[in-house]
Amino acid sequence: MKRYSSSQKTCPGFEGITLGEEIEAYGVVKVVASDNVEFEKGDVVVGVVTWAEYSKIRRNGMIMKLNPLGFPLSYHLGVLGYSGLTAYAGFFEICKLKRGEMVFVLTASGSVGNLVGQYARLHRCFVAGYAGSKRRVQLLKEKLGFDAAFNYREETDLSSTLKSSGIPDEIDIYFETMGIVMQEVTVTNVNTFGRVAMCGVISEYTDSE
Ligand SMILES: NC(=O)c1ccc[n+]([C@@H]2O[C@H](COP(=O)([O-])OP(=O)(O)OC[C@H]3O[C@@H](n4cnc5c(N)ncnc54)[C@H](OP(=O)(O)O)[C@@H]3O)[C@@H](O)[C@H]2O)c1
Repeated sequence: MKRYSSSQKTCPGFEGITLGEEIEAYGVVKVVASDNVEFEKGDVVVGVVTWAEYSKIRRNGMIMKLNPLGFPLSYHLGVLGYSGLTAYAGFFEICKLKRGEMVFVLTASGSVGNLVGQYARLHRCFVAGYAGSKRRVQLLKEKLGFDAAFNYREETDLSSTLKSSGIPDEIDIYFETMGIVMQEVTVTNVNTFGRVAMCGVISEYTDSE
């Protein structure tokens, strides 16, 4: 939404937004009218739509029919959507966890991070994560089952934070989403033969450099 950002030139769909323009977003919608034989009135579709009551979708629009499989539609934007697949593939395919390992997640309260943490907990891993506010740290610990969570704006020295919190082991799996700001402090705490999933670098996309 910035007037200028280097990321706006990286791929179609990342262009800046001009004032008054509809905002595109990934969403679930119901077809009310269609001149495309692939879609009929009443079909539920998922894809890039506009953030509005009604969306006009071009013929080459990025949408597909959705079979809700009995789940709430919102699940198809989260746990069963892009974020869920990203977390699932990144964690299970790339990190190749072993039961009981120590998992550290950056941007842990974000749409990908919160799922990585919950998958790790379900597999009896010890899960710790970073978030950017007290409220989110609380959410991670009290609602999402993280064993430990820290505010990276206040606790920048991860080594001493881990030690003073009584966390026994070093990091076996490090799920990276943020970028260079926290990478160095985290990587120094990763065990030999630990795994790092490079999922993204959110703090760098809109960096003017
Ligand atoms: N969602 C997907 O489908 C998908 C797919 C592939 C890759 N990824 C990558 O996964 C990472 C997380 O994505 P997400 O979808 O989980 O994002 P999200 O839901 O928007 O959460 C991102 C969180 O990152 C933290 N953050 C830290 N530095 C930031 C900065 N400079 N600008 C904005 N947010 C910042 C913020 O939380 P705090 O303030 O609590 O730190 C924010 O809530 C990104 O690197 C993204 O590129 C996502």
